[in-house]
This record gives sequence, structure tokens and C-alpha cells, in this order.
Amino acid sequence: MQVRNLWPTPLACESIQLPEVMRTQLIDVLLRKDTERQAAIEADPDFHRFMTTKKFYASTHYNLFAEAEEHPEREAILAFEQFACVKFRQFLEAAYGIDKDQGVELAGRCFGNVQLPGARTFPHYHQSCDGVLIHYLDIGEGRDPEANLTPRHGTHALLLLDPRGTPNYPWWEKVESITPTQGLTVIHPAYVWHETNVWRGTGTRVCIVVNFQVIRPGYLSLHQPLRG
Ligand SMILES: [Fe+2]
Repeated sequence: MQVRNLWPTPLACESIQLPEVMRTQLIDVLLRKDTERQAAIEADPDFHRFMTTKKFYASTHYNLFAEAEEHPEREAILAFEQFACVKFRQFLEAAYGIDKDQGVELAGRCFGNVQLPGARTFPHYHQSCDGVLIHYLDIGEGRDPEANLTPRHGTHALLLLDPRGTPNYPWWEKVESITPTQGLTVIHPAYVWHETNVWRGTGTRVCIVVNFQVIRPGYLSLHQPLRG
């Protein structure tokens, strides 16, 4: 009997402390982006209506890497872009054996996820990309009274669902739960369905996220803008 385990799902977790100046500058720019979003919502009722139709998730529709030159935190943003690319390339090699000789070219979008107590991230995929990097810049303070009652109860735990759909024996656990710490860096394929528990500590939780596309090699490198 020949047995092959097909289509495993790689997940990378690493604790990485960014230089403190870089970390605080990234928090500053992401908090400012979040404040601008709130102001836009309050200033324009039509914009708010548009958002509530769920056609548009305004909190994530920007690319911090593309607008780096517009911010006083430019150096921190560019340094994080380099950091994220190094980490994603390490992930590609460790997970799939794709090394630098294969000429991988990356595209991506960077954005923040800022949450106050009581907030959570609802279940989602990251559409139209290949991989996701999440770095926890600040996890606030305080402790959820239910934290660690089970592996799924961690304060603001990141919950990743088994992508196999209907796992049964011998897979008892359908959810992988990761408790955030400052500096935690998680990389996972974009197709993994995930969400978070409610943030029930105090202070503001700030994540910085990168959606990666491998634009070469692969099918994307064959696409071009059409003439029609
Ligand atoms: Fe996500």
C-alpha cells in the first residue's frame, strides 16, 4: 500500500521583536489611518450607507506600502516591507521548497487591523492573493477572565479552521487556536478560513497585515490587461 498525505496546509508562527522606533511608528500610522476612516464615515452619510451594504470594507481598502511616501513614518513602512518580504520568502522555502533560484516575484498590499475592547475579526478568507502575514504590534493589556479555559478561549485568539471541510476521525480538533503576543508573526495560505475571539482586554490591539501574491512564476505572469 502506498500512502501519500496530499495537500497539507503550512502555518508559520514566530516571535519577532521589531526595533522599538519602527514598532511605535507603525502603530502611529495605523492608528491615524483608522481615525481617518472613522472621520470619513461620520462626515459622509452616503459613504456610511455604502459601507453598511457590506460592499466595501473601508478599514482595509488601502495599501500602506503604496502610500509610504505620504507618511512621516516612511522609513518604518519601507523597513516593514523588507521584513515582510524576507519572512514570506522564508515561508515559501520552508513550506513548499521554493528557494531564491526560482525567481519568485511578489506583489502585495499592507494594511492595519485596529481593534478596541469588544471588537473581533469576523470569519473570512483573504481573496485574490496567495499568502497572508500578520504581525502583532500591540496586544493591549488586561486579561480575559475566560482566557485559556480551553485552547480556544485565549484573549482575542486567532482561530484558523481546518480547510478540509468535513474532518472526522482521527481529526478531533477542527480549529487551530493561536493566542497573540506582541511580536507574534503568523503566515498562512490565503485560503485558510479564520477569525478572532472578541478582544476583551484593555487598550488598543494593533496588527499589521500583508496580503501576498506570487506574480511570477505562475499563471498570473501570463495575464495581461485586455483590449476589450
Ligand atoms: Fe485575516
